[in-house]
Amino acid sequence: MKYLPLVLIIFSITSCSKQENISIHHFEIGKVKFNYPSDWTFTEMEGIDTYISYLSKNGDTIWIEYGRYNPKIYKNPLQNNLFRQITIDGKEAIFETSKNKQAGLASVYIPKTDSTSGLYMYNKKGNTQDVLDIYKTIKLGKSIRKESLIINQFKDKKSPPGIVFYENNCLSCHSEYRFEIGPQLDQKFIQSKGKLWLKNYIYSKKQSMEYGIQCSQIEKQDSSSVNQMLKYLFQK
Ligand code: HEC
Repeated sequence: MKYLPLVLIIFSITSCSKQENISIHHFEIGKVKFNYPSDWTFTEMEGIDTYISYLSKNGDTIWIEYGRYNPKIYKNPLQNNLFRQITIDGKEAIFETSKNKQAGLASVYIPKTDSTSGLYMYNKKGNTQDVLDIYKTIKLGKSIRKESLIINQFKDKKSPPGIVFYENNCLSCHSEYRFEIGPQLDQKFIQSKGKLWLKNYIYSKKQSMEYGIQCSQIEKQDSSSVNQMLKYLFQK
């Protein structure tokens, strides 16, 4: 028993110093910056077209992918998750978490951090709050914003957020890079049409083309998705 006090002292020293040893590390790639606590280990991979790295801690991994995104990640049908679209330093972004907290998914998707590169960060089966705390520190471009992002209030709505809506409903027939079933929806074409024109076009009834294919007509009840989608398409 004579060693017990010593053991306690050593224990309290190590538990204190553990806390104090955690500092903040900075990450930067292209237009993207964020901070993460130093108890996460950072590893860079060799990507071919896309930059890939990851952060890991206690078996949890946050993947960081940065590059040109095509095909879009939400082209596939949505899973049963919660979403939220917010603006980060002028760019539209989607946050996604699983409804079931135990499933521990948290992702952030910024399709266009500039005219060419997108960011996708995600983890699975980890501590969602820990991960969101890192996402909250994301800054884009020359941002000097001091406050962290507010990314609570995930929505479980019938109509998906605008970016998801666009990738599901429009990119099944259109591409931003070439003519597919419909004309190429590149930035120049979209800008030349104008926001109001595009909005009216989206809600209007279209003529059927060859083989009965026609551009989709969106119902007015999806207006919150459409408005967010327009915000995304016309972001600077
Ligand atoms: C089923 C396939 C299909 C889907 C889904 C689809 N489109 Fe189209 N879209 C077309 C085709 C085909 C055309 C060319 C024929 C035409 O102009 O009607 C077209 C034309 C367009 C045009 C050009 C119109 C013009 O007059 O120049 C725009 C803009 C457009 N689509 C936007 C969208 C948006 C936004 C969505 C998602 C809400 C969407 N489309 C979904 C097939 C599709």
